[in-house]
Amino acid sequence: MAILVTGGTGYIGSHTVVELLKNNKEVVIVDNLSNSSKDIVDKIEQITGKKCKFYEVDIRDAEDLIKVFNENEIDSVIHFAGLKAVGESVYKPLEYYDNNVIGTIKLLEVMKASGCKKLVFSSSATVYGDPGTPKYTEELGRGKASSPYGATKITIEEILENLYASDNTWTISMLRYFNPIGAHESGIIGENPNGIPNNLMPYIQKVATGELKELSIFGDDYDTKDGTCIRDYIHVVDLALGHIKALEKLEKPGIYVYNLGTGKGHSVLEIVKTFEKVNNIKLNYKIAPRRAGDLAEFFADPSKAKKELGWEAKKGIEEMCRDSWNFAKNAK
Ligand code: NAD
Ligand code: WQD
Repeated sequence: MAILVTGGTGYIGSHTVVELLKNNKEVVIVDNLSNSSKDIVDKIEQITGKKCKFYEVDIRDAEDLIKVFNENEIDSVIHFAGLKAVGESVYKPLEYYDNNVIGTIKLLEVMKASGCKKLVFSSSATVYGDPGTPKYTEELGRGKASSPYGATKITIEEILENLYASDNTWTISMLRYFNPIGAHESGIIGENPNGIPNNLMPYIQKVATGELKELSIFGDDYDTKDGTCIRDYIHVVDLALGHIKALEKLEKPGIYVYNLGTGKGHSVLEIVKTFEKVNNIKLNYKIAPRRAGDLAEFFADPSKAKKELGWEAKKGIEEMCRDSWNFAKNAK
């Protein structure tokens, strides 16, 4: 029996495939390569010494997906495929709804028709909106989306709840990630977006390699310990391991939701200083105006995942910064 990983050549997907293969699972990847490349499959093999099947397929193409299900015995699906750039989603909302929401519906239809009813879905802390407290527990429920991207995640979570309500033989785990950074310790895979990055760590990486001149720190006048925003950064390998634990939970039908974060908040300046310290590098940065839509502070309450999945993040920001650079300096 194989696990289908949609978006498996992407940043989080590739790290999860590595952990699945290390756990001797059979893996089939589908990815349309809109934000990744096929050489990731070779890199996964290089790290693990194991092979996985790869299909260049868009999840919105039901015929292609059906073929994948017909050619493989798919037992469960980890669904990463989607567009994820918050800013871009504001000026391309239809593309985001089409890719993320319609793509997920197509996938669910094909899964249903194939009798495969086990799903782990990549959700996001963004579904909480602005709940008025920095510590996000699952009980807070979903808030108001702050972007079309966030709205797609909220909508998909609702669709999954509706689906389970209609047929409680499904087993669905919705994992709300906080801020994934870091890379595989080998330095072979990591995050290397095309163009100018939106997220903090990819931007820092490109300043460190000299591809970008300086980092703009968006605001130092927030009501936080050093005035810069606070987030819950989680090492991508810890995040990947959370998926392995969530898969084990799929033995029992139900709909589950878990925060995947460390429970610790770190400021932008702390990340910058830690990156400089552990990698012995000077980063050029300046303080810039606040970025629209940023919240001052939030972090996960990860206790539910610890209690029910037996999962907790182990790696700290030193390892995250070290592994990010170890990858980026080779990827340049
Ligand atoms: P990524 O862009 O690196 O990976 C997504 C992969 O999906 C890419 O390889 C892309 O080519 C593929 N893809 C996109 N649309 C597709 C389609 N229609 N059909 C087939 N493949 C398609 O992103 P990531 O950081 O690995 O994120 C994975 C998932 O986790 C996404 O759903 C994202 O929204 C979610 N998420 C990411 C973060 C984050 O900060 N990285 C945080 C919370 C949630
Ligand atoms: C982190 C901090 C910025 C860039 C986003 C999505 C969220 C989730 C994770 C998908 C903030 C500051 C950043 C820069 C900076 N993704 N920053 N200079 O905004 O917390 O979360 O990614 O689900 O939905 O919104 O992450 O990495 O963009 O920013 O000062 O050049 O770094 O202001 O405080 P964010 P980020």
